[in-house]
Amino acid sequence: MSLRLKFNLILVVMGIFGLLVAGLIAYDLQIKHAREEVLETAAILMESTLAVRDYTVDEVRPLISAGSGDFVVQTVPAYAASKYVHNLQQKRPNYSYKEAALNPTNPLNRATDWEVDIIDHFRTHDIPEMVGERETPIGKTLYLSRPIRITNPSCLVCHSTPAAAPAGLLDRYGNSNGFGWQLNEVIGAQIVTVPQSVALQRAHHEFYLFMGALLGVFLVVGFALNLLLHRFVIAPVIKMAEHADKVSTGTLDLPELTVHGKDEIASLGRSFNRMQRSLGSAVNMLNDTLE
Ligand code: HEC
Repeated sequence: MSLRLKFNLILVVMGIFGLLVAGLIAYDLQIKHAREEVLETAAILMESTLAVRDYTVDEVRPLISAGSGDFVVQTVPAYAASKYVHNLQQKRPNYSYKEAALNPTNPLNRATDWEVDIIDHFRTHDIPEMVGERETPIGKTLYLSRPIRITNPSCLVCHSTPAAAPAGLLDRYGNSNGFGWQLNEVIGAQIVTVPQSVALQRAHHEFYLFMGALLGVFLVVGFALNLLLHRFVIAPVIKMAEHADKVSTGTLDLPELTVHGKDEIASLGRSFNRMQRSLGSAVNMLNDTLE
């Protein structure tokens, strides 16, 4: 096996190993990064709905309730949050927010099967939030959810019994849903759903770009190393081997090898020239004694 082949085999094996390790680490990091980015988006959406809820309770309700004694749906935080997200969805249809409840005032907020599982989990486990992934028709999505626990007795004005609720609420939503909630009960969950496909696509794209660049660097370095190997090792060694062949078959009056530099190959060349000279003088001495 030639020196060049051995060298290139080792280079290729090391290259494949290096690319594999770098690829695995880079892929893992990119996917982790994409997931964190999606989770951050979900958290921002969640926080902004909470901000809308607070705004409604702190700013809108006192203003409107002061004027009209009756029920005004625009003062309901859940309504404000769902309207806000509805408007947002005009531009970002794949992002969603839902205040899913087991027994909702608005039937649109009724929890679907997977949402019921989340609410049940919150009802039996005291945890602040849950994060998970789901396969949907629009691709992989990530959901972030937090429990809705009734901690404020004022919520029960509209959610305990139809008798306690404002007449306007009954007119609009009827008297069969959204009642019977208890203080400190987890009645539902806020669920934000964010698509992962865009972030994942970008992560894949960046991964391929990185691997392409790495492969490019590897090829350029391999090519440069091959050139150097040829220039500094293989070519001088071939020249010396041809020269040695001729000397060994008796051609002693060859001009000496031209040697440049101070590296190991150059010192081998100098040693070889010295050997050729000594061999020459030894043969001359032998010839002289024989004559
Ligand atoms: C003035 C009456 C009123 C008060 C007070 C009120 N809500 Fe509601 N709530 C409603 C109405 C009406 C809806 C339906 C809104 C819609 O159409 O999206 C609703 C909806 C909800 C929903 C979404 C699920 C569903 O039932 O449709 C949650 C969760 C909720 N309210 C929690 C609370 C909490 C927690 C409080 C106390 C901080 C509270 N509500 C106080 C009237 C009220």
